[in-house]
Amino acid sequence: MDKIGIIGLGYVGLPLLWTFHQVGEKVIGFDVDPEKINSINAGKTYIKHFKDEQIQDLSSSDLCEVTTDFSRLDEPDAILICVPTPLDHHREPDMTYVEETAKTISEYLRKGQLVVLESTTYPGTSDELMKDILEKGSGLKAGVDFFIAYSPEREDPGNPDFNTKSIPKVVGASTEKARELAVELYSKALDKVVPVSSAKVAESAKLLENIFRSVNIALVNEMKLVMDAMDIDIHEVIDAAATKPFGFMKFTPGPGLGGHCIPIDPFYLTWKAREFGLNTRFIELAGEVNNAMPQFVVDKTMLALNEKGKALNGSKVLILGIAYKPNVDDMRESPSFSVMDKLKALGAEVSFYDPWIPVIPSSREHMQWKGLESVDWTKDSISEFDAAIIVTDHRDVDYSELLNWCDCIVDSRNVYPGNREEYKGRVFKA
Ligand SMILES: NC(=O)c1ccc[n+]([C@@H]2O[C@H](COP(=O)([O-])OP(=O)(O)OC[C@H]3O[C@@H](n4cnc5c(N)ncnc54)[C@H](O)[C@@H]3O)[C@@H](O)[C@H]2O)c1
Repeated sequence: MDKIGIIGLGYVGLPLLWTFHQVGEKVIGFDVDPEKINSINAGKTYIKHFKDEQIQDLSSSDLCEVTTDFSRLDEPDAILICVPTPLDHHREPDMTYVEETAKTISEYLRKGQLVVLESTTYPGTSDELMKDILEKGSGLKAGVDFFIAYSPEREDPGNPDFNTKSIPKVVGASTEKARELAVELYSKALDKVVPVSSAKVAESAKLLENIFRSVNIALVNEMKLVMDAMDIDIHEVIDAAATKPFGFMKFTPGPGLGGHCIPIDPFYLTWKAREFGLNTRFIELAGEVNNAMPQFVVDKTMLALNEKGKALNGSKVLILGIAYKPNVDDMRESPSFSVMDKLKALGAEVSFYDPWIPVIPSSREHMQWKGLESVDWTKDSISEFDAAIIVTDHRDVDYSELLNWCDCIVDSRNVYPGNREEYKGRVFKA
């Protein structure tokens, strides 16, 4: 394979492009967003944990090109698709990005090309939806003229222990030839490739991974509510249980689910299962429990303020962290917004501090917060707040300063573990 094409240069596609480029492969990146293309060409990153120097590796290289010109899709021998797969307003799979991309590819598809979908999706997307569109648009036959595979992305942005190269890559395809080509492709750049017998197995494996997380997080969240009512420290309970060397895996409770994956992907299976007359009760129950967590945090904030003789209505409340997880600048599906919406609806004056997100950008879901700027991290600024709620525990925040500056801290992340004397009357677990 002489050249590898990657469509969708976001959190998944950009590191993938870089990883193939790092091993000397010729790469071409495609995106509909000209700002991303301009940014790469200018050597500037648009993803905070992906460094300018990495972008400059790409922009200064003869082996890499990025473009919005999709007519060049006939150049690469393999095309990897990394476009969004969100839910629509009815919380059903929104396949428009995958469909549009497949249509565009079909216009330029040529014999011998391998097309691999990487976006998280329901079983059958590659071999039914995508295959149909590619065959109809191109007049070519899958498995004979061109080849289809599915390989789920397991990117964990901001995780220092794993990267695209070191995370084992599952690859599924329904024909021997497609599987061989896909394994050969990924083996060029990744440490371990795990072939499976079909695209559907690979699609389902990805969903299982994320459903497993969603269900287990819901379990510890439910456990937290019960422990809280019994005045037992859930974190001490979990740490004690985690000393069992087999049959237990540690999950941590929090203010609710966030990110582009765990709150969304499980519902792709729910939707597809309906076609087979099946309900996915675990998935829905986990969703219900996890979705109730922001309200628990708000209730705890009301109780904490009450202890200070204050009402939430009219109080100044600071949200610490609006990214969906620590040390990233990604705020998609972040539970912070749910907490903020509820606080605002109850009359609180809401501000935020996030060292990773200086200003809330425009997004489909959170328009009422667009343009709001992170407050300054100074004693004067922080001590003005009646309460501070830790929703995301970024590493580069000085929590001992916060403890000195604010006398009503609602801690949903166990930043202040245990029951130390200096927390009394200042730190409220949520
Ligand atoms: N972010 C993660 O950590 C993560 C992890 C595992 C799997 N995934 C999955 O990977 C897929 C991509 O996620 P992401 O986080 O990289 O999304 P993203 O929004 O960061 O990036 C998607 C990119 O695709 C581009 N795009 C949209 N429509 C396009 C089109 N028609 N043609 C070309 N480009 C188009 C967008 O401009 C954007 O740059 C999703 O299915 C997601 O569920 C994401």
